[in-house]
Amino acid sequence: MMGTVMICVKDNNFVAFACLGYLKVPRPGESRGPSSSSVMVLLVLAVILVLSLPSCHASAACNQHDYDSLLPFFSNISSSPLKWSPSIDCCLWEGIECGGTGRVTRLWLPFKGLSGVLSPSLANLTYLSQLNLSHNRLFGTLPAGFFSSLDNLQILDLSYNRLLGELPSNDNSTANIAIRIVDLSSNRFSGVIPSNSFLQFARNLSSFNVSNNSFTGQIPSNICIVSFLSITALDFSYNDFSGSIPSGIGQCSNLRNFSAGFNNLSGTIPDDIYNVVLLEQLSLPLNNLSGTISDSLANLSNLRVLDLYSNQLIGSIPRDIGKLSKLEQLQLHINNLTGSLPPSLMNCTKLVTLNLRVNFLVGELSAYNFSRLQQLSILDLGNNNFTGRLPTSLYACKSLKAVRLAYNQLEGQILPDIQALESLSFLSVSYNNLTNLTGAIQIMMGCKNLTTLILSVNFMNETIPDEDTINSSGFQNLQVLGLGASQLSGQVPTWLAKLKNLEVLDLSFNQITGFIPSWLASLPSLFYIDLSGNLLSGEFPKELAGLPTLASQGTSELFGRSYFPLPVFAQPNNATYQYSQLYNLHQL
Ligand SMILES: *[C@@H]1O[C@H](CO)[C@@H](O)[C@H](O)[C@H]1NC(C)=O
Ligand SMILES: *[C@@H]1O[C@H](CO)[C@@H](O)[C@H](O)[C@H]1NC(C)=O
Ligand SMILES: *[C@@H]1O[C@H](CO)[C@@H](O)[C@H](O)[C@H]1NC(C)=O
Ligand SMILES: *[C@@H]1O[C@H](CO)[C@@H](O)[C@H](O)[C@H]1NC(C)=O
Ligand SMILES: *[C@@H]1O[C@H](CO)[C@@H](O)[C@H](O)[C@H]1NC(C)=O
Ligand SMILES: *[C@@H]1O[C@H](CO)[C@@H](O)[C@H](O)[C@H]1NC(C)=O
Ligand SMILES: *[C@@H]1O[C@H](CO)[C@@H](O)[C@H](O)[C@H]1NC(C)=O
Repeated sequence: MMGTVMICVKDNNFVAFACLGYLKVPRPGESRGPSSSSVMVLLVLAVILVLSLPSCHASAACNQHDYDSLLPFFSNISSSPLKWSPSIDCCLWEGIECGGTGRVTRLWLPFKGLSGVLSPSLANLTYLSQLNLSHNRLFGTLPAGFFSSLDNLQILDLSYNRLLGELPSNDNSTANIAIRIVDLSSNRFSGVIPSNSFLQFARNLSSFNVSNNSFTGQIPSNICIVSFLSITALDFSYNDFSGSIPSGIGQCSNLRNFSAGFNNLSGTIPDDIYNVVLLEQLSLPLNNLSGTISDSLANLSNLRVLDLYSNQLIGSIPRDIGKLSKLEQLQLHINNLTGSLPPSLMNCTKLVTLNLRVNFLVGELSAYNFSRLQQLSILDLGNNNFTGRLPTSLYACKSLKAVRLAYNQLEGQILPDIQALESLSFLSVSYNNLTNLTGAIQIMMGCKNLTTLILSVNFMNETIPDEDTINSSGFQNLQVLGLGASQLSGQVPTWLAKLKNLEVLDLSFNQITGFIPSWLASLPSLFYIDLSGNLLSGEFPKELAGLPTLASQGTSELFGRSYFPLPVFAQPNNATYQYSQLYNLHQL
């Protein structure tokens, strides 16, 4: 272990300190590093250097009051590799900066592995303007008076710690008027954020992030009254906020990001939000919001992200949504939306993610021209009431990686043009009325990057194609194949034996006859087979007991891995992974 020594030399004339950095000094008994005599030499050298440079990088000496406040802060922190020492000017401690009068203005120690409780004396650093202790392991509550006394604070970042309890009240009505950035996210804070909190006079507040805590009560209602011009980002997500979204957010005319998802918010989306024309992100998923999405949404022409999924929203998708020409992510899934897709949606040519699953949407999908959505990567229209043929214009959306159209009333065949989707790795069209399984298998084998194919509950009463009917060199990356509940006849097809990456196979609830093939045991990655509900006969092949994944310890990792670029993975039940079921795979 090397000890560290900081050598600083006081310049009497200017009452300033100069620092020449750190010298590593070996502890007694250590062989490596400079000998003590060489340290002496360096020290002498250092003194000479400083004396010959009268205006060497200097800062004022640490104010005694601030020194007294900092000392307990630093000594409270355990297991810290920080470079500080009571005998050194505190303005020279790691992470500290002082103003001209030796007052501590900056305490900046993110990602330092700091562990410990914040000393109450921190609140005495009244000249502090920038405080960043993010990404450490600080715990305990914020000291009383923290907000009321830190008058000069402009930047406060305590994110990613283990701080808890309620925010200390602010009894000083003029405190924090200078604050610009507040990030308390990813801690364990709780309680209500009182509307007469430290935000009360924060006229310059620009970014306020309390996400990922356990705050309760209402979203503070006055936030856009005081800071209406300055606020650009408000993040309340991942808490236990309840009540309705306060109207007044619309006063924040410079707001770019409003996020309050994963709470218990109820009521409607306040109309004045649609006046915030600079808004780029509106994220309110996983709440209990009701009512409709206003047609005024079309005002928000800068919107890139609109996440309103998992709420109770009713009504239709705003007709003029196509005016949102910058929209990249539209997630309205798991609501009670009705009506058809507005044709203007196809004008949102920047869309990357479009998720509308689990709603009550209707209409002939084949009537839409998806081909302008050249950036579209994830499309989920599953669990709606869409009708008509599989839309062939989708085959022109060259960026598609994942498509889910399951649980609709689509008909027709999968066409060879789908092979143009070179990035396609996930396709689920289960629970529709598609026909021509032989064609579908043949065509999908030509999709080189396909990892998941779920075709269950289609192709009623057709026959599973065998090796003779198809060119069976494809599916080399296929991991999941779902062909259940379709009354398919035939035998377990031998081309499956070539799918060396196959992990999950569902052929359940068909009319499959013949034996359970013993060659299934030769598939190195296969760990889930469902052949139930068929007309199979013969013995259970003992080879299957030797399935590589059955014998290995690594199988639970396979379960833990998410195949699906869409959030549709059927969760294993509470049994140990090895024996758990991927229930309802054919419903994906
Ligand atoms: C705090 O420091 C971290 C690490 O350098 C940085 O990412 C973060 O932006 C800082 N916080 C603020 C509000 O500047
Ligand atoms: C708010 O910001 C403006 C512009 O940067 C600045 O002139 C003003 O002093 C700030 N107000 C406070 C209270 O810090
Ligand atoms: C708020 O902080 C979280 C991390 O705790 C971060 O993921 C999120 O992007 C931040 N929100 C905003 C609006 O910057
Ligand atoms: C949404 O639909 C579900 C399922 O039909 C229903 O139980 C619920 O009451 C509906 N909610 C609203 C707000 O319409
Ligand atoms: C799509 O945008 C074009 C050009 O801005 C416009 O002429 C057309 O009416 C829009 N289509 C729909 C359905 O809104
Ligand atoms: C089934 O699909 C294949 C491949 O597209 C095609 O060649 C064949 O004609 C189709 N069969 C029927 C009955 O439509
Ligand atoms: C899951 O299993 C554990 C251990 O067997 C048990 O303590 C727990 O209550 C179970 N959870 C549920 C939701 O069944």
